[in-house]
Amino acid sequence: MAMARRLASSLLSHSLYAARCSSSLFPGARTHDLAFGVLRMFSMAAEPITPPVEVHHTQLLIDGKFVDSASGKTFPTLDPRTGEVIAHVAEADLEDVNRAVSAARKAFDEGPWPKMTGYERSHILYRFADLIEKHNDEIAALETWNSGKPYEHTSQKEVPLVTRLMRYYAGWADKIHGLTVPADGPYHVQVLHEPIGVAGQIIPWNFPLMMFAWKVGPALACGNTIVLKTAEQTPLSALYVSKLLHEAGLPAGVLNVVSGFGPTAGAAIASHMDIDKLVFTGSTVTGKIVLELAARSNLKPATLELGGKSPMIVMDDADIDQAVELAHFALFFNQGQCCCAGSRTFVHERVYDEFVEKSKAHALKRIVGDPFKNGVQQGPQVDEKQLNKIMHYIESGINSGATLVAGGNRIGNKGFYVQPTVFSDVKDEMAIAREDIFGPVQSILKFKDLDEIIRRANATEYGLAAGVFTNNMNTANTLMRALRVGTVWFNCFHVFDPTIPFGGYKMSGQGREKGIDSLKNYLQVKAVVTPLKNPAWL
Ligand code: NAI
Ligand code: MG
Repeated sequence: MAMARRLASSLLSHSLYAARCSSSLFPGARTHDLAFGVLRMFSMAAEPITPPVEVHHTQLLIDGKFVDSASGKTFPTLDPRTGEVIAHVAEADLEDVNRAVSAARKAFDEGPWPKMTGYERSHILYRFADLIEKHNDEIAALETWNSGKPYEHTSQKEVPLVTRLMRYYAGWADKIHGLTVPADGPYHVQVLHEPIGVAGQIIPWNFPLMMFAWKVGPALACGNTIVLKTAEQTPLSALYVSKLLHEAGLPAGVLNVVSGFGPTAGAAIASHMDIDKLVFTGSTVTGKIVLELAARSNLKPATLELGGKSPMIVMDDADIDQAVELAHFALFFNQGQCCCAGSRTFVHERVYDEFVEKSKAHALKRIVGDPFKNGVQQGPQVDEKQLNKIMHYIESGINSGATLVAGGNRIGNKGFYVQPTVFSDVKDEMAIAREDIFGPVQSILKFKDLDEIIRRANATEYGLAAGVFTNNMNTANTLMRALRVGTVWFNCFHVFDPTIPFGGYKMSGQGREKGIDSLKNYLQVKAVVTPLKNPAWL
């Protein structure tokens, strides 16, 4: 409550809201942007709102204790609203990963966790969920501060969903069991499902806490131990909740969390001989690197959730206003930083022009600003590297002949804000239609008929998700089977319930997270065969 009051008063003291887009506020803006109307956002000159939380944990978490890195090195973690340093965080390298793996190995081979009953493990996970719920607003504030996501979303949606995910996996912990199978002969055959061992988990920055939950939840429910590396951009929230997990009763060494960079700490995890399973979310390029490291070391199995270029298909029977809104959400949600973003908006030619006009109006209405301010829909991109990548793609869209209908500029020169950007007349071969931009840049393409859209939607190396807007059952039945993707959302998008499996076809990855399928990532299957002395009882 105190937290909510502090935030409310902080929000009131920053009433510079919905400042009109003017050339003095956006010196870099092209003149035609200003003619688009009012892009509502706070003045970038305003002081950023003070986050209603303090940073307590910046060290590595190894064997139940917060410790410095072996080298003593730290790296700064930044506030994407300003580019300023929030805190210096201990930087893990090979030696720290070795220490973390030793702790996890010992906790698996000798500790109580894998031997506990599922019911005991579920209790700890339920208590953890209660603690996340209790500290919801502080965790959300830390997540917003470190990643730039709107606080309204982290506090009302993402952190509550993390609580929900933990309860989902707590519920599984005492329901994981094997089978007996009827072999063709005088044998009693059991199939045991055992924890796989030490899981090495590498997560990205676009959903730092959610990715933590998707990975840690099933691994713990199945009785494994963990070494997890956070993304170098966003180490803070995982350290905070890991402390809570120990308060909930997790034995030391079961979860070890290291902050650090990919080619050092990340590669040390992927290639470690004492890690039994690798689970990774991030780019396809890095996914290939970690898979190769896993194969060259101890051939550890890997679950990978990688990039995407998901089609969002709008058929001509669709209610245009609803379709525009959904396609806007499919792309712009989370600053456009979603592996499954609807980043190819395919619109039927009969409704194309109206759709483009309305999408432009929607983008111009989007409220960009300090993510701690109420009503803000879009915060800054996570860091300068992502900002530059997005600006490069906007330039590439313009140069390749797409029509820029909204946005196109960086906002201000402090922090990593980008105008909601819309391109029409996008063609399949353009880089903006093929590559993973990971930013607030919508590409609208035109199509004529069902056969054509099936072929074009599938003509990509990715296969993570697709959205379809239609009320025609025959169209829906055809598309749900024809699209080569791990998720098809009909008349909805970004639905992330804990029960629904998520993952990719093709170069979007392998394996599934969430849902019952996620448990398979963390279980070994052991067949046990005993001859039956009295085959009469077969
Ligand atoms: P990345 O895939 O390189 O990083 C993701 C994680 O992998 C981070 O924890 C990073 O430290 C680690 N990592 C990086 N190199 C590694 C290596 N050699 N060995 C082991 N671990 C390594 O993604 P990055 O560089 O942050 O973003 C680049 C692009 O990747 C984005 O612009 C976006 O297109 C895509 N991406 C996709 C995500 C998804 O959810 N599928 C999430 C984040 C980025
Ligand atoms: Mg990278």
